[in-house]
Amino acid sequence: MSTAVITGAGSGIGRAIAIELATHDHEVVIIEIDEAAGEETAAAIGEAGGTARVVSCDISNTESTEAAFSQIESIDILVNNAGIAAVGNVESCTPEELDHIYSVNVKGMYHCLHFAIPIMVKGGGGSVINLASVASYLGLQDRFAYSMSKGAVLSMTMSIARDYIDQGIRCNCVCPARVHTPFVDGYLEKNYSEEERPQMFKALSEWQPIGRMGTPEEIAGMVTYLSSKQAAFITGSAFEIDGGVTNLR
Ligand SMILES: NC(=O)c1ccc[n+]([C@@H]2O[C@H](COP(=O)([O-])OP(=O)(O)OC[C@H]3O[C@@H](n4cnc5c(N)ncnc54)[C@H](O)[C@@H]3O)[C@@H](O)[C@H]2O)c1
Repeated sequence: MSTAVITGAGSGIGRAIAIELATHDHEVVIIEIDEAAGEETAAAIGEAGGTARVVSCDISNTESTEAAFSQIESIDILVNNAGIAAVGNVESCTPEELDHIYSVNVKGMYHCLHFAIPIMVKGGGGSVINLASVASYLGLQDRFAYSMSKGAVLSMTMSIARDYIDQGIRCNCVCPARVHTPFVDGYLEKNYSEEERPQMFKALSEWQPIGRMGTPEEIAGMVTYLSSKQAAFITGSAFEIDGGVTNLR
């Protein structure tokens, strides 16, 4: 049985990816800072007849990530999904906020790649899929720090694809527009009153030309395809899953 490691699989997109990969006969390893949420995903996979375990880890911390990957013997698929959001422009973004976003979305992804790639090389290769965003390449309003971090995800994807092509590692990223997950609900809760939220939810949905947000399962479908043998010719690519945002707005 091959092994799929997914960061941040306790919630949203990561959880859907873990569940989908488990149904494709992969043993799933969930890397999570929120261990209880990770265990919920593992239990859902177990109930459906799959195999999953949780490794508790804060990917922004070097020692924690090293310790997590030292517990994993082989990796066929690595999905770098864990990430956090931030709202604001360059003036409202504080130095502390910038560091925090960088520490999870950029350095955290670096940590996972740094400790996972040697395991993958030793095993003869595999597939890496990173969660980027349309923010990686579009100028989104009020997303200064987040866009910075997702731009780095896009360029880390290309670096890994280039450097490890001869070792049998493919590396791609997916670039979703808005996907309805706790990430979005948390944003609405933090920034809008209960009365304002339905209107904001509608506006966030209609921002996509297709008229709605994506679902975690739609992202999981693309990630599963990219990790499969059918995608053996695909590396160094970035895939929009965005309801038309990039090309139709
Ligand atoms: N939801 C969207 O609209 C959207 C759009 C484009 C890209 N993305 C990206 O997709 C990814 C997943 O987003 P989501 O909406 O499912 O988010 P989410 O908040 O629902 O889930 C993120 C998970 O990552 C975990 N996590 C956070 N910090 C961590 C850390 N330091 N160490 C380990 N785990 C940590 C959280 O505990 C959580 O379970 C993120 O990288 C996000 O930037 C999301």
